[in-house]
Amino acid sequence: MNIFEFDRSAPLIELRGVHKKYQMGEESIHALKGIDIRIQSGEFVAVWGPSGSGKSTLCNLIGLLDTPSAGAVHLNGQDVTKLRDDRRSEVRNKAMGFIFQSFNLIPVLSALENVMLPLQIAGVSAKVARQQALERLAEMGLERHKTHRPAKLSGGQQQRVAIARALVSAPVLVIADEPTANLDSENAVKIIDLMRDINSKKGTTFIFSTHDQRLLERVGRQVLMHDGEIAEDKLPEKPEAFRVAGVSR
Ligand SMILES: Nc1ncnc2c1ncn2[C@@H]1O[C@H](COP(=O)(O)OP(=O)(O)OP(=O)(O)O)[C@@H](O)[C@H]1O
Ligand SMILES: [Mg+2]
Repeated sequence: MNIFEFDRSAPLIELRGVHKKYQMGEESIHALKGIDIRIQSGEFVAVWGPSGSGKSTLCNLIGLLDTPSAGAVHLNGQDVTKLRDDRRSEVRNKAMGFIFQSFNLIPVLSALENVMLPLQIAGVSAKVARQQALERLAEMGLERHKTHRPAKLSGGQQQRVAIARALVSAPVLVIADEPTANLDSENAVKIIDLMRDINSKKGTTFIFSTHDQRLLERVGRQVLMHDGEIAEDKLPEKPEAFRVAGVSR
């Protein structure tokens, strides 16, 4: 089974009847209660809703960072629910990029070295990794900051380094769990617009979670979570403004 052979007839992501329960001593927390969703390649999806509604749990399941208690996760038409851990890591490394609320940059590495890291872990030569990382940093407007360590960068700049790092392996899917939660509103808007720009230029699929309703007007599809369920799955009012070349739903 090769997950990377693109099956155009299948959605990029499909969750079928997905439940997630966490056991906390005696108590069982039902974090996801039957999620059914399909996301096509090239979509830009916001997952929003109150704290504790299940946004991170949903992101983690789609990102193969966790497994459902019941139901199935399909990627490109393949059931990945029961893949072995090493295969899950392989799919993550080759096909996905992650952006986190707390940036998760390595403090002792420069911006450039942070962005190079995923490629070096994948065995790409330092020369090629450096070239690719420089290109991604330039796209984020960070060329001048390439030698700076994270502590020398603003929050917005650090998150742009993290986006460059998420994109450096040319993933088909980027998952961003609250990427703007530690940013002021001006930088939050910039980060979302940068991700949208990459989405429309390269067709990279983005799923991001947020509390911030003001960001939703910039987004193609809005999935509202409430108490472990999808309360609303809203498409843009003007779909033509959000359509990406080659994407049909
Ligand atoms: N590892 C875990 N162990 C136990 N319970 C968990 C775990 N992760 C999440 N939960 C619980 O599952 C529910 C959903 O949590 P989740 O983190 O997905 O919500 P969220 O929408 O991302 O919230 P926030 O906006 O605060 O990030 C919550 O009740 C939470 O306490
Ligand atoms: Mg969360």
